[in-house]
Amino acid sequence: MSRSTEQDQSPGDLVPHLSSALRLMLLLAAVTPSLKACLVRHSVNGNSVACHPPAQPPSHFPADTLYLAVEFFNLTQLPADTLQNVSHLQELHLSSNRLEMLAAEFLLPVPQLQVLDLTGNALAGLPPGLFRASRALHTLVLKGNRLRDLKAEWLSGLKALAYLDLSGNRLWTLPPRLLANFTALLILDLSDNQLESLPDDLLQGPLRLDRLHLEGNRLRTLDKELLAPQPGLRYLFMQNNSLATVAAGAFEGLRELDMLDLSDNSLSSVPAGLWASLGQPARAMKEGFDISRNPWVCDKNLDDLYHWLLANNDTMFSRKETLCAGPEALKGRLLLEVARGQMGRTPHLAKSPIF
Ligand SMILES: *[C@@H]1O[C@H](CO)[C@@H](O)[C@H](O)[C@H]1NC(C)=O
Ligand SMILES: *[C@@H]1O[C@H](CO)[C@@H](O)[C@H](O)[C@H]1NC(C)=O
Ligand SMILES: *[C@@H]1O[C@H](CO)[C@@H](O)[C@H](O)[C@H]1NC(C)=O
Ligand SMILES: *[C@@H]1O[C@H](CO)[C@@H](O)[C@H](O)[C@H]1NC(C)=O
Ligand SMILES: *[C@@H]1O[C@H](CO)[C@@H](O)[C@H](O)[C@H]1NC(C)=O
Repeated sequence: MSRSTEQDQSPGDLVPHLSSALRLMLLLAAVTPSLKACLVRHSVNGNSVACHPPAQPPSHFPADTLYLAVEFFNLTQLPADTLQNVSHLQELHLSSNRLEMLAAEFLLPVPQLQVLDLTGNALAGLPPGLFRASRALHTLVLKGNRLRDLKAEWLSGLKALAYLDLSGNRLWTLPPRLLANFTALLILDLSDNQLESLPDDLLQGPLRLDRLHLEGNRLRTLDKELLAPQPGLRYLFMQNNSLATVAAGAFEGLRELDMLDLSDNSLSSVPAGLWASLGQPARAMKEGFDISRNPWVCDKNLDDLYHWLLANNDTMFSRKETLCAGPEALKGRLLLEVARGQMGRTPHLAKSPIF
């Protein structure tokens, strides 16, 4: 392992003045509390090793290590054979280093790995084939790296993936069929990237996605096709984008949505029928919805939304920030109040509202 600080002159040998045996002893000695060594916890199943500064980053681990954390060291690279002798490893946490690349062979020795956390590194890509032995990996966290042009091959080999976190990168586009093989995927987090659009087939593959994070991108439209393959989706986060257009059938396939966040977008209107499958009268949206901080134009084009808002007002978030931006006469009024005013007319008028 090598660190990006001046004092580390010899990558691959972090404690050059100590013999390997001594280094191992230093590591193992950490059962007695010492700030300078890694923490090793023994259990009947195996060891758990956690290293953070001011301890030295280790270069050898006990063979029966199941859990390994080497974090906050600013390591820029790891030797390809780092995991050679920990073949039972199940969890690997390498967050808050400065890793720029991983060797294609890096994970080959650890086919039982279930969790890989690479949060907060400097990865601009992954070597194709990295996961070719990672059939047990269910959690992959690549949050806060420098990924820009994601390649589907980077992820190939993963068979059990349930949680994929790609948030906080520089993704501006996604390849087709990215998730085609991830039938077990439950949570997809693409938040805080620079995505302007998504491939229509993005959600084809997963059999039952539960949670989709798309917030903090630059999405402008939501088409009919995107969500259609995921009728069981329960959480949809699309706040803080540039959505101006949502297709009438965009939510049509959703049967179990419990949470919808469309706040901080550019919606001035939405098409009639958009809400039909969501919330009451079909079923309550358990966790609620947020449509605040959009430039709503409160004219009769919103009648359908008004009806829906009144039926679902008890699960509405940020009411005081859900305002009309137009027309001039209604600027700054609460959308919910305007809805009550419009729909609270006589039934006769409510059926054919006149503005
Ligand atoms: C793995 O074990 C072998 C044999 O004990 C040793 O020579 C080698 O240095 C070890 N590799 C690592 C990365 O710990
Ligand atoms: C890692 O880098 C940060 C920022 O430069 C620095 O504050 C920190 O002390 C470094 N940590 C180590 C273990 O070198
Ligand atoms: C999906 O799996 C098939 C069969 O194993 C393989 O040929 C294909 O390359 C995989 N697709 C991706 C994007 O990894
Ligand atoms: C919106 O997303 C951008 C990243 O795309 C982020 O920098 C910003 O903090 C987010 N704003 C809010 C209010 O969450
Ligand atoms: C929602 O609206 C109904 C009438 O349409 C009203 O009785 C109820 O108090 C409202 N709930 C809230 C939390 O405003």
